[in-house]
Amino acid sequence: MQILARRDRVVVILRDCGSLELGSNPGPGPKKRSYIKRALQITMADAIKDFGEIISTYDLAAGEAVGKRESHTPKIEAPGAVKANEAFELKVSVGPHPNKLEHSIRWIEVYFYEERRPFNPIMISRIDITPEISEPSAIIWVKIAKSGVIHALEYCNLHGLWSAKKEITVG
Ligand SMILES: [Fe+2]
Repeated sequence: MQILARRDRVVVILRDCGSLELGSNPGPGPKKRSYIKRALQITMADAIKDFGEIISTYDLAAGEAVGKRESHTPKIEAPGAVKANEAFELKVSVGPHPNKLEHSIRWIEVYFYEERRPFNPIMISRIDITPEISEPSAIIWVKIAKSGVIHALEYCNLHGLWSAKKEITVG
């Protein structure tokens, strides 16, 4: 593994496994040392985790700063109980978070894990977000026949994948 502290980025080169950007180069000082310390903790064992294990949640990222966790965890706004096959408003938003070309939320996906369905999840929506023009916030209308759990997934180009979930009961 090789760490490159470029002019504006800290990049980790993993042998046989491509490279990984850790984020903006914070310049000299304690923050840079913490980036490099974190880079040194990344091993091949981390890199070959199953896909589900590389998705952060507010609780799983407990070691990260609260601000980072709050600014990346999707917020799901929807009723906790709905009627079968009756459309309801579902809002998913992320942030406040930077919305610049070099650092932004690039997309949001919404899934539904339906109770007693043989295969899950059902993909409900994908929202692509153009930095500086679009905001990471979307309202969709959804109809469900059975109770289940809404999962929202977002991708930040510097800080990876973050998810959140909300249970919805059909009564
Ligand atoms: Fe970010």
